[in-house]
Amino acid sequence: MAERPFIVGNWKMNGTRSMLSEARAIDRASQRLMKVEVALAPPYTLIHAVHKEVEQIGVGAQDCHPAEGTAHTGDVSAAMVLDAGAKFVILGHSERRQGHGEDDSMVKSKAASAIAAGLRIIICCGESEAVRDAGEEESFVLGQIRASLPDDLDNAAATLTIAYEPIWAIGTGKTPSAENVGAMHRAIRALLVQLYGEEHGAAVRILYGGSVKPDNALELLGADEVGGALVGGASLTAESFLGIVLAAAELPE
Ligand code: PGA
Repeated sequence: MAERPFIVGNWKMNGTRSMLSEARAIDRASQRLMKVEVALAPPYTLIHAVHKEVEQIGVGAQDCHPAEGTAHTGDVSAAMVLDAGAKFVILGHSERRQGHGEDDSMVKSKAASAIAAGLRIIICCGESEAVRDAGEEESFVLGQIRASLPDDLDNAAATLTIAYEPIWAIGTGKTPSAENVGAMHRAIRALLVQLYGEEHGAAVRILYGGSVKPDNALELLGADEVGGALVGGASLTAESFLGIVLAAAELPE
């Protein structure tokens, strides 16, 4: 059975307490849009505050450290974000892969530790412009997913979400066509079915991310095998984020 669309706002390194009113507005409106699962991933500093503000929407983290509580100055463990109110964590975002040198094996160990702590995971993947120009995007993305997923995922459908985010589409206003998104998502679906079997593999949601806005959301969300969106810039105000949530609510069930 198809799950509700999942629309996740990734606030990245944005957000002070003055933005809690946006979270509140998103939450209130989402209470009337139960056909859509809505969540926000604020920076660590706001996880607990957003969690306290909202009733309906989910709250998640943008990253976590792979180790349990030990001597890692400046880092935050999976158990700590869970304690702050997060229910999920985004892992392997291209900004972490590029800006912090995270490779697939690092993402994999973070995923294992997040699941052990009781968090759901959103694993990000996506090719650069050069990889797409070379026509290698599909093998690149599938390779990234294979190498980033933890071994032994008991209940993939309940634990795992994949976010396909072509790097060249993030924050640029450029997006792939709905056909290209659908082709990539079908390839990811086939891999998930191969890894987790028909039932679980078919139920894992695959989000599209990269310049999703209210005016292109319906088209991108309507592409084949798209189960929602990971939204950066357009998640920073309730007005634009809710435009995307509303588009998701319009999708045929
Ligand atoms: P964007 O970011 O919507 O601003 O392109 C998406 C993301 O990086 O998750």
